Amino acid sequence: MTRSFRKVAVIGAGTMGAGIAGQVANAGVEVLLLDLHGDGDDPDSLARRGYRRLLDPAQPGLMSRRAGERIRLGNIRDDMHQLSDCDWVAEAVVERLDVKRMLYRKIGEVADDRAIITSNTSTIPIRMLVEDMPVSRRSRFAVTHFFNPVRFMRLLELVGGDETDPDVMSRLESFCDEQLGKGVVRCRDTPGFLANRIGVYAIQCALHAAMRMGLTAVEADAIFGRPMGIPKTGVFGLYDLIGIDLMADVVRSLATILPPGDPFHAESGEIPLMTRMIANGQTGNKQGRGFYKGDAEDGSRLVLNRDTETYEPFARANLSLAEAAEKEGMSRLVDDRTKYGKFAWEVLSKTLSYAASLVPEISDDPVAIDDAMKLGYNWARGPFEMLDSLGVSAVVDRLESEGRNVPGFLLAGRERGFYSVRGRSLGVVDVSGQWSALTRPAGMVRVGEVCRALSPEISAEAASWYSCEDVAVVVFHSKANALNGESMGVLHDAVKQVQGRGMRGLLVHNDAPHFSCGVNLGTIRDFCRRDDMDGLDRFLADFQETVIAMRDADFPVVIAPAGLSLGGGFEIVLHGKQVVFHANSIMGLVETAVGVVPSGGGCKEMLYRWTEHPDCMDDLSRACWKAFMNTGYGKTATSPDQALDLAMIRNNDSYQANRDRMYRASVDAIMDGTRQKPFSRPVLYLPGQPVFEEMKTWLKTAHESDGVLTPHDVVVGTEIARIMSGGDVAPGTGFSEQDLLDAERRSFLTLARQPATLARLDSMLDTGKPLRN
Ligand code: NAI
Repeated sequence: MTRSFRKVAVIGAGTMGAGIAGQVANAGVEVLLLDLHGDGDDPDSLARRGYRRLLDPAQPGLMSRRAGERIRLGNIRDDMHQLSDCDWVAEAVVERLDVKRMLYRKIGEVADDRAIITSNTSTIPIRMLVEDMPVSRRSRFAVTHFFNPVRFMRLLELVGGDETDPDVMSRLESFCDEQLGKGVVRCRDTPGFLANRIGVYAIQCALHAAMRMGLTAVEADAIFGRPMGIPKTGVFGLYDLIGIDLMADVVRSLATILPPGDPFHAESGEIPLMTRMIANGQTGNKQGRGFYKGDAEDGSRLVLNRDTETYEPFARANLSLAEAAEKEGMSRLVDDRTKYGKFAWEVLSKTLSYAASLVPEISDDPVAIDDAMKLGYNWARGPFEMLDSLGVSAVVDRLESEGRNVPGFLLAGRERGFYSVRGRSLGVVDVSGQWSALTRPAGMVRVGEVCRALSPEISAEAASWYSCEDVAVVVFHSKANALNGESMGVLHDAVKQVQGRGMRGLLVHNDAPHFSCGVNLGTIRDFCRRDDMDGLDRFLADFQETVIAMRDADFPVVIAPAGLSLGGGFEIVLHGKQVVFHANSIMGLVETAVGVVPSGGGCKEMLYRWTEHPDCMDDLSRACWKAFMNTGYGKTATSPDQALDLAMIRNNDSYQANRDRMYRASVDAIMDGTRQKPFSRPVLYLPGQPVFEEMKTWLKTAHESDGVLTPHDVVVGTEIARIMSGGDVAPGTGFSEQDLLDAERRSFLTLARQPATLARLDSMLDTGKPLRN
């Protein structure tokens, strides 16, 4: 059982402090957020500014209004006395030793002796922070290094000093893991800890190599990006995102604290072009211009020509190497002899060697280093996993043939790779060169790690199912987990097998970034292009049959989504008897954007759910309108409260703050079985034609007078209206669940025949952008 905190104070309401306060409040704990005394009438204006940032709809730091009410604002001149009943004081003020030390003195005067004090510092060693603290305070001091944005970035680096009490560390660890949902990685007090030490080095290697080898920003980002399992911002896009000026500070600061022999120094030299850019205010996204300018979404994107220092139209790199590597794996990149392949090898060989050379200095544990890069930099694989996918011995041979230094720990993985399976356990080579089974704290399980040690019962390119602990676990593994006939076939097979094999239940879960972005639009477009409406109808009917079989199964069924669950992905979620979702999940039916209607039971399920929602009880017309409006607009929920408000989850569903705790919670829920909520779907007596007419009038008005809806929006909206109201039938006509499923498919086929729908599908598939036709 976690020992929670009663009340937490966060001092410094900037980017990080406000984010930490928001996430602590999301976890249900009272927070006091203090900043400097403000000028003018409002003494708390600086803390208030930080609080307002949490309300940014593009990146909401708060999960609900209720969470916001848990934060009290103040300033360090008037409100320090309120620290007396806080059991954790988290400092997140500017990165200046003198300012931090001065603040700790003030905290020491007012805080409870038992309070834990932490700093969010990125670079200052603990021994310097605690230098003039009494011993009793030093034992209660640690660094909790969160990443920006705090709600969404999963990594927390937890660093203790020589004198930090182990109990302080375990208390912070369990709270941050279980309640704040962080992947806690314990680090030594070394410069940049784990993630920034390797991450900043990798970025710098890519930057300098691209400059030296004459790759454009677009080319470099196309290689140092998706094909390596690195976010698509790559290197130049990431520089723009973080801020070219801020990155310059980070690089300078790391260079001052790293020892002289560190390879980082060779990659930290000043680049005159970037100095000029900073002086010209071309500091990246916050100024609207850096290496890129304008918006990628609206097509106004430009890219800086580094020779002429002017902006030119942006064109995708379309590198065949990048495409091939995404399909065939990273080795394809480094085996390539073009300048792109040489660039990839240079960056990867340096970064991966650097990571290996830092064992054991920064950590004894390659898993901790891999986790830090995955959770803190959103890399798909950590350095040691990348080495495994390149083949450790191939990397070592090439380094040796190039006469380069091979770090000792790299040789430890030469024979069998760093990660390998023995018996039924996945294990990893440790600092002594020995294989040992990979262990994680109790309750923390990554399904990918479990499945790696098992053989799938059935496996296809898009999905597999495994038998784990007597539970059938269905894992999707296509790009963005787009669903096709194959993935639904695997799911249907698992549903059928559970009973026959006497298994305990079914779990649908994966630890990819997104549970599922919906049905593969390419599959739909192929049916449309071939004008194969019978085939399309069969595909939809199979989808519906699969989710209904899952819903009707007489064993426990848990769906555990994280990241995006959209369209068809969300229709699977809607048919779980119990859902264990991640707190930051984004869920919804977004089919209208591509000119179709949800037809995997999504429309009918939203209609039923609205009839059960407290806002619509006993008012069927209101339920029809709610289902029509929310599905028509493709509304998504971004927090548990919102999902409840939008009738997307039920009161037996629950959420986990930490993604790595979803698997265990789900399997426990299956074993327990008491929170399973089967749902029967009775005949609905829909309001029919009068409400259908009202909805069509609403669509017409929204198109003609408000201009909110495009012509094809009206066509698609009319089909949603037809399903949700019952369409052209007399009021009170009865619709069974199957009637509603049939209505979904009919509307889908009507729309699939329209060129305007095909144009929407083309746009989404070919450009990644929705078409408003
Ligand atoms: P920031 O500049 O956004 O915010 C700092 C805040 O501290 C400002 O609101 C400022 O008014 C306030 N402040 C300054 N002196 C104060 C004092 N004596 N008492 C109370 N408030 C005071 O800085 P940011 O980015 O939030 O960084 C905070 C800390 O977190 C730094 O130590 C930084 O190195 C670290 N950090 C920053 C990350 C980032 O991505 N920005 C990531 C991880 C760590």
